[in-house]
Amino acid sequence: MKVVRQLAIMTIFWGIIGMSVGVIIASQLAWPALNFDTAWFSFGRLRPLHTNLVIFAFGGTALMATSLYVVQRTCMAPLYLPRLASFVMWGWQLVIILIFITLPMGLTSTKEYAEAEWPIDILITVVWIAYAVVFFGTIVKRQTSHIYVANWFYGAFIITIALLHVVNSMAIPISAFKSYSMYGGAMDAMIQWWYGHNAVGFLLTAGFLGMMYYFVPVQAGRPVYSYRLSIVHFWALISVYMWVGAHHLHYSALPDWTQSLGMAFSIILIAPSWGGMLNGVLTLSGAWDKLRSDPIIRFLVVALSFYAMATFEGPMMSIKTVNSLSHNTDWTIGHVHSGALGWVAMITIGSLYVLIPRLFDRKAMYSIPLINLHFWLATIGTVFYIVSMWISGITQGLMWRAVNADGTLTYSFIESVVASHPMYVGRLIGGLLFLTGMLIMAYNVAMTIYNDSPKDQPAAA
Ligand code: HEM
Ligand code: HEM
Repeated sequence: MKVVRQLAIMTIFWGIIGMSVGVIIASQLAWPALNFDTAWFSFGRLRPLHTNLVIFAFGGTALMATSLYVVQRTCMAPLYLPRLASFVMWGWQLVIILIFITLPMGLTSTKEYAEAEWPIDILITVVWIAYAVVFFGTIVKRQTSHIYVANWFYGAFIITIALLHVVNSMAIPISAFKSYSMYGGAMDAMIQWWYGHNAVGFLLTAGFLGMMYYFVPVQAGRPVYSYRLSIVHFWALISVYMWVGAHHLHYSALPDWTQSLGMAFSIILIAPSWGGMLNGVLTLSGAWDKLRSDPIIRFLVVALSFYAMATFEGPMMSIKTVNSLSHNTDWTIGHVHSGALGWVAMITIGSLYVLIPRLFDRKAMYSIPLINLHFWLATIGTVFYIVSMWISGITQGLMWRAVNADGTLTYSFIESVVASHPMYVGRLIGGLLFLTGMLIMAYNVAMTIYNDSPKDQPAAA
């Protein structure tokens, strides 16, 4: 469990760093003077740093921590090759540090969510294969006859990310830190978004569903609502996700039928997404009273509600006529963060509050009221963020398409920027609230580890 403990602590650390960079770039969008005319501190360099830190450092480390915990508990077996597990932990931290240094230097492959240059890509592949060996090795060594469904989701996430990363990162190096993609034109775009959307589907979704299938039943003290539904959920989700990437490329040089196919599969995706979400929420049947007394359960249930919202909004945005309004506007950014803050961050936070006392052999978290405070800061922060982005996004979309009777544009671009400004300040306030919650969590976790006697009794032990 040592590796799991290290990974759990690093998750909180990277969450705070990644979100702090988010707060900085949110401020830069509101007040561009904050770029300070400094290349490495400019929005263009810090934005990919933010996305890499929150997705791979915060999200990736969280998935490693929880998957390596859950696989041991549900297989009743210790980790296969513990030294290799330690290599995974340190190797992954090295990957993140290299990304942290190279992106602000302007060393980038320019592929979104895959900006790291080729030497780092090779290191990622090595660490990922080691991770797969440890995870699947533990499953092979299991003492149970059955493989619990959470492991199916984690397993699919590990295999798919390996495949996506290797195919999308194929490049021809021209120097130690510069390479060009092996693909050209529309094909490059299609492969990039096949990667991009499946990173959403398998890293930001399937992996975290694995988390949900373990931590929701544990904290609710009840079995999964329907185990049969969880299996249907798994196969339906993984077979549909692979087809939807083209919805990122509507009205582009991609063949029209490919765009329509992406749209159709995106709409079908509502069914497995909501089926899985309901399976999580209904696990609480008969234990709804816990929502009143247990802020950890609240984190988990609110995460599922935001997941429901993002997976309804996404299919709507994939409809071509809707996308013609939403694409390139802040609506997309709002959608991203209802998934990223509302679902990914909240389910992680809830799961860590369950995990930390167990990992460090404590009766409960140091302070339940502080968890409650964190819950409200996170929820209000997320709502502030996404509502601001809906307003600015729809305003931008409508202003850009408004035309006068003579066919000229009604508004100049800068007028839409001026109209968005108050919403950028609103988003910043939301981000600051969310970040404050994370700092409170770090304090609560530190006190749990260093203080042996819990201040409050657990709401749900
Ligand atoms: C305090 C919390 C956060 C703040 C203030 C914040 C802020 C921002 C800002 C200002 C942008 C750039 C938007 C633009 O270019 O117009 C952005 C992009 C992005 N953020 Fe965050 N963020 C936060 C947390 C997160 C988390 C936790 C995740 C993921 C788990 C995340 C994932 C992303 C992604 C994927 C993008 C790129 C979106 C796109 O290209 O459409 N963010 N964020
Ligand atoms: C049924 C599920 C979903 C569908 C069909 C879907 C669909 C979409 C669509 C149509 C876009 C806009 C593409 C564009 O106009 O460029 C988008 C963007 C995005 N979505 Fe979703 N979404 C879903 C769920 C989620 C979830 C749960 C998350 C996060 C956890 C998420 C993360 C993102 C990100 C990061 C982007 C921005 C990509 C970029 O342009 O950089 N999506 N999604």
